[in-house]
Amino acid sequence: MKNFLIFLILLNFFWIDPGHTRPFRPIRAEKGMVVSADSIASRVGVNILQQGGNAIDAAIATAFTLAVTYPTAGNIGGGGFMIIRDSSKRVYALDYRETAPAKATKNMYLDSTGKVIKDASIRGYLAAGVPGTVCGMWEAHKKFGTLKWAEILKPAIRLAANGFALDEYKARIFNAFKQEFQQFPATAQIFVNPDGPFTKGYLFKQTDLARTLKRIARLGVKGFYSGPLAEKIAKDMQSHGGLISLKDLKSYRCKWRTPIQIDYRHYAIYTMPPPSSGGVVLAEILNTLEGFHLHRLGHNSSNMIRLWVETERYAYADRAFWLGDADFVTMPLNVLLSKEYGRKLRCKLHYFNAGVSDSIHPSLPNFKEKDQTTHFSIVDQWGNAVSNTFTLNGSFGSMVVVPGTGVLLNNEMDDFSIKPGQPNSYGLLGGYANAIQPGKRMLSSMTPAVVTHHDSLFMVLGSPGGAKIITTVAQVISNIIDYRMNIRQAIEAPRFHFQWKPDSLVLEYNRFNSDTIHNLLNAGYAILYDKYMGYVQGILIENRSSSITGWSDPRSNGRAIGY
Ligand code: DON
Repeated sequence: MKNFLIFLILLNFFWIDPGHTRPFRPIRAEKGMVVSADSIASRVGVNILQQGGNAIDAAIATAFTLAVTYPTAGNIGGGGFMIIRDSSKRVYALDYRETAPAKATKNMYLDSTGKVIKDASIRGYLAAGVPGTVCGMWEAHKKFGTLKWAEILKPAIRLAANGFALDEYKARIFNAFKQEFQQFPATAQIFVNPDGPFTKGYLFKQTDLARTLKRIARLGVKGFYSGPLAEKIAKDMQSHGGLISLKDLKSYRCKWRTPIQIDYRHYAIYTMPPPSSGGVVLAEILNTLEGFHLHRLGHNSSNMIRLWVETERYAYADRAFWLGDADFVTMPLNVLLSKEYGRKLRCKLHYFNAGVSDSIHPSLPNFKEKDQTTHFSIVDQWGNAVSNTFTLNGSFGSMVVVPGTGVLLNNEMDDFSIKPGQPNSYGLLGGYANAIQPGKRMLSSMTPAVVTHHDSLFMVLGSPGGAKIITTVAQVISNIIDYRMNIRQAIEAPRFHFQWKPDSLVLEYNRFNSDTIHNLLNAGYAILYDKYMGYVQGILIENRSSSITGWSDPRSNGRAIGY
């Protein structure tokens, strides 16, 4: 009997594993959790929580660490959005999106004959918008931070100065981009190994970046936007045909915006308003789908997918036509966000066969798939929550590192419609509302979200994925609310995507059964397959605040760490 008891105790002891070893169990924690796309960054964030910092302190530490350890997307030369729900249950939306430089013009990416100049908005100095990340982190800290700014930056500085060991994934990515890096000597100096390909375990140091971070730690936001660092950026821009000036840097401002609140089956979802399209498109999708008993259709059955696709056809068409930077264009948000509009869309949907995107007007599409962005979700012991998505746009952004600074610049300008109303070099079209104007923010799809239920914190999530971000976030939310999945199941479930144009349904490669595919083809859908369907980093509070559960999308290489 005694032996049996010991056996039970031991069994119990080993049973509490971190979750990775058993199917469909998420990571659990009691006090706080950080889920990010990089395990070093998640660890740094959790250390901050354990030192007594709140979720916002942890978010800032995680973000600066990602700029060091996950340079494909983590950044100080890019921008993003942060949703914060504080312990007093108020929700805030922080916009630190990049802006177009003052010298930017509507046709800056067109040649004299009006043709799009290949790659001009994607690679090199002209592709970069005025970075917003340092301003965003500073603003968040000013309003909510409890630990000292300089303390919070210490781990990132240490990792840049002393280096960290590359894992296989990072070594492979750096090696894959070697040719692109070589076009920019300062970039190649950091990301190309002169002694041959990087391998797992290589100690990767970034001394210039460490110096830059030390400056930001000492001087705060001014350390980045004025003084020698800003001068270096402006000078390098000038000598390479870029547009960002010292004045652009000095006048950059991040902004607190009113979050969009979407009520979906008694849950409240808080997310970004324009200049991200995420909130509006998510609202249109969920407001329309709310009228259907989704749970009665099988999860990911052809009938369920068709309802989603037909809804997304309208939501993404509206995105293309109406949405842009709220400071520059007027948008009918009251209509687009209303339940009434969802009802109207329900009446228009094609139920028996595939709709036709060309029949939807107004119609000026603007979609592009990009490679890299990154999201992290954090909750702390006091109930503060941070949902942050930030980006350089493409992997390693413009590929430009400003010499002597370690700062990798974004290529966010490509999110503008570089040629409104006309197909660009990729055969894509652009919308008027998102045309380039000096100081304007380019339209985004980033959808950091915080969900509450009966006024209690319920979920924190977000994803990279370009246009797929919104459908990814929507599906994970629905998996949890409509299909009662836990956070791991909801994130791991196969995903699909539709964005009006191109008029093709994208299914996650190798994850849908042949019956479903057959039914969809029969209904008239053109089907494409893709392996890349976003990387969700999510936290779910189970049983009304008693248990924090989290999961990092296995499609990426991240980690949920709690304590
Ligand atoms: O703001 C946006 O919507 C894009 N710049 C995001 C790009 C992205 O998600 C790429 N990631 N995979």
